[in-house]
Amino acid sequence: MTTDAKILLALRESAGGVSGAALADELRITRAAIWSRIEELRALGYQIEAAPHSGYRLAGEPDVLFADDLAARLAGAGVIGRDVRVFEETTSTNDVAEKLARDGAAEGVVIFAESQSRGRGRLGRQWLSPPRQGLWFSILLRPLLRPQETTQLTVMAATALRRAISHETSLEVKIKWPNDILIGGKKVAGILTEMSAELDRVRHVILGIGVDVNQQAGDFPPELRRSATSLRMECGVAVSRAALAAAALRELDADYERLRAGKFGAVADEWENFCATLGGNVTVQIGDERFHGRAEALDETGALLLRTEHGRLKTIHGGDVLPEKRP
Ligand code: BTN
Repeated sequence: MTTDAKILLALRESAGGVSGAALADELRITRAAIWSRIEELRALGYQIEAAPHSGYRLAGEPDVLFADDLAARLAGAGVIGRDVRVFEETTSTNDVAEKLARDGAAEGVVIFAESQSRGRGRLGRQWLSPPRQGLWFSILLRPLLRPQETTQLTVMAATALRRAISHETSLEVKIKWPNDILIGGKKVAGILTEMSAELDRVRHVILGIGVDVNQQAGDFPPELRRSATSLRMECGVAVSRAALAAAALRELDADYERLRAGKFGAVADEWENFCATLGGNVTVQIGDERFHGRAEALDETGALLLRTEHGRLKTIHGGDVLPEKRP
């Protein structure tokens, strides 16, 4: 952890303030060095008050993602979040993660961007990623899974992200199979899972996650206003992106650990409890084909089991689930 991350961690842990001497002692640097780092943090927008008796106190934070700050919030991360990098702008954070993967980076590295010029969604769609309005990030994983089992990771990501959003906002948050996060029936976040694999072995998977956090209605293009929302629009107040980012990574790390321990069943049970799709009639579109039926359950790989009109159970690995409009 960098010195700045350690200072931020110490300030957060002592709401009443922490003296320069105590900080210097803990970090094994001089009080002058502490003072100079505090000045740097202030220049970045952190409001750090200094009082003669109580010492330094964190009074306010900028709405900016800093790798050091995220590292401080994620102290003790297992796999996901042990290496966090933030870019001001990228084409797509999935592109950056893909390059890191090819360069041999260890799993768990997370790439955030304050904006993306070519953010992408599933099925070749565009994903709007305006500066500082949301969380746009990608996670590199190297799971011991077969290619057809990687739906488990999307299910895991949706479960963890749902939990984080719900804890941070107290809103009722649902999942639409396999990767949409909904509030009040509108999409607030999505997950794009991309992988590189051999026939029976996954080389790496990139989980790309986009959360619409602080947009106002007018920030969405007219064609999305009926189907998309942001956390701010739902809560009525701005949401701290840094706090949400850290909460999401903590929950993702916990669920990835569950998956690696062979407990996908527990993750899938939680997913099913919060799924807006299961139990209802749906239309699934895969390429040009459409299937109608009842969304019954997930199988052990995370695929959707659809009871078709003809009574057969069809296993769905991809595509788009639309709400059933037919009577
Ligand atoms: C979807 O719902 O279609 C998935 C949207 C995924 C968007 C995220 S934003 C971060 C990462 N980089 C991208 O280009 N896409 C994903």
